[in-house]
Amino acid sequence: VVSLAVINIGELTTNDPKIGRGATGRRERAGVVIDGSRVVWVGDSNAVPAADIAIDAMGAAVLPGFVDSHTHLVFAGDRSGEFESRLAGLRYDGGGILSTVDDTRAATQIELDNLARARLGEMRRQGTTTVEIKSGYGLSVDCERTLCEVARGLTDEVTFLGAHALPREYVNRRTEYVELVGTSMLDACSPLCRWADVFCDIGAFDVDESRSVLLAARAAGLGLRIHANQLADSGGIALAVELGAASVDHCTFMSTRDRDLLSGGDTVVTLLPGAEFCTQSRYPDARALIEASVPVALATDCNPGTSYVTSMPFVIALAVREMGLSVDEAVLAATLGGARALRRDDVGHLGVGARGDLSILEAPRAAHIAYRPGSNLTRCVLRGGVPVDMAPDASAREVT
Ligand code: NIG
Ligand code: FE
Repeated sequence: VVSLAVINIGELTTNDPKIGRGATGRRERAGVVIDGSRVVWVGDSNAVPAADIAIDAMGAAVLPGFVDSHTHLVFAGDRSGEFESRLAGLRYDGGGILSTVDDTRAATQIELDNLARARLGEMRRQGTTTVEIKSGYGLSVDCERTLCEVARGLTDEVTFLGAHALPREYVNRRTEYVELVGTSMLDACSPLCRWADVFCDIGAFDVDESRSVLLAARAAGLGLRIHANQLADSGGIALAVELGAASVDHCTFMSTRDRDLLSGGDTVVTLLPGAEFCTQSRYPDARALIEASVPVALATDCNPGTSYVTSMPFVIALAVREMGLSVDEAVLAATLGGARALRRDDVGHLGVGARGDLSILEAPRAAHIAYRPGSNLTRCVLRGGVPVDMAPDASAREVT
């Protein structure tokens, strides 16, 4: 086991109020020591205890690794044409999912693994150290199982999303498909998963269908998450609160009643501004959520249809510029917020005992993430105390 010290940190964000100022637990001229995979010491740079290796941050900002709690990384095919047509006026209605399903079914497991791994590498090099990955482009027992296997090779946070769309072969057999998702498909996938999700929205699955899938998933021991109210007010937010879901995601459309239901609870609202940006939709009222003490997270929603975005820094820049979050609120939501959405207390902060996940920026303050959109300001990333390979062709294997 090797110990590693990061010294001469100009601005350290710990998200631990016991360590520094405010909710971000901020301090200047700081140092961090990681022993093995865990943070063992945080304090002043001039008091750092001896370690096997020292990394000199040379005055740069350091922050906890990003927790991207909502992604659809495992898919094949290309939908840039659909993106272009949408810019030319076509509206997003979720219909493109089935074209990705065709391409994903036609790919081999090795191809899917390579594609997902390359996307994860992009994420890692931009500071993401924990990632949730959903299935949902197989929509058959075998193909959903394959997607879960690929995801499981990359992360512990695998989500079964068999209820993502109605596959073509079930067009006139909705009830049968919903039944399949909650029985044999769930049985095949649940051993690989920690979570289940449903797309509860207009044109996808309604509240009763979603509830039946989620109750079956819960009985199989999975935690719950819901895609809700991306396209319209679907009733999915109330369902998430009713079932005690860990997270309700998108919430582009949201009533005052929805907000009251969520207020002070522990169902996190995961905001995905990459989706609004890429589909030219209105942004959810993030300020109202924060004012109402609703816990919020930010994630990429990386998927081929609505948000082919791997960059958490870009998501933070959007949250600041388009949804009125302060930089600190956005950075908190992208780290600690994501950890809460995954009900994890070992990531999303840099308190003693946390996993040694951090990024050293090519900038003196975390605010530069929003201030300098489009530049990759990530100089170095540690994950579990181990430097992430920053080479563009590095394959990214998640150590669990
Ligand atoms: O989160 N809304 C449902 N699922 C994805 C989009 C999937 C797709 O278009 O391929 C989302 O936006
Ligand atoms: Fe999504």
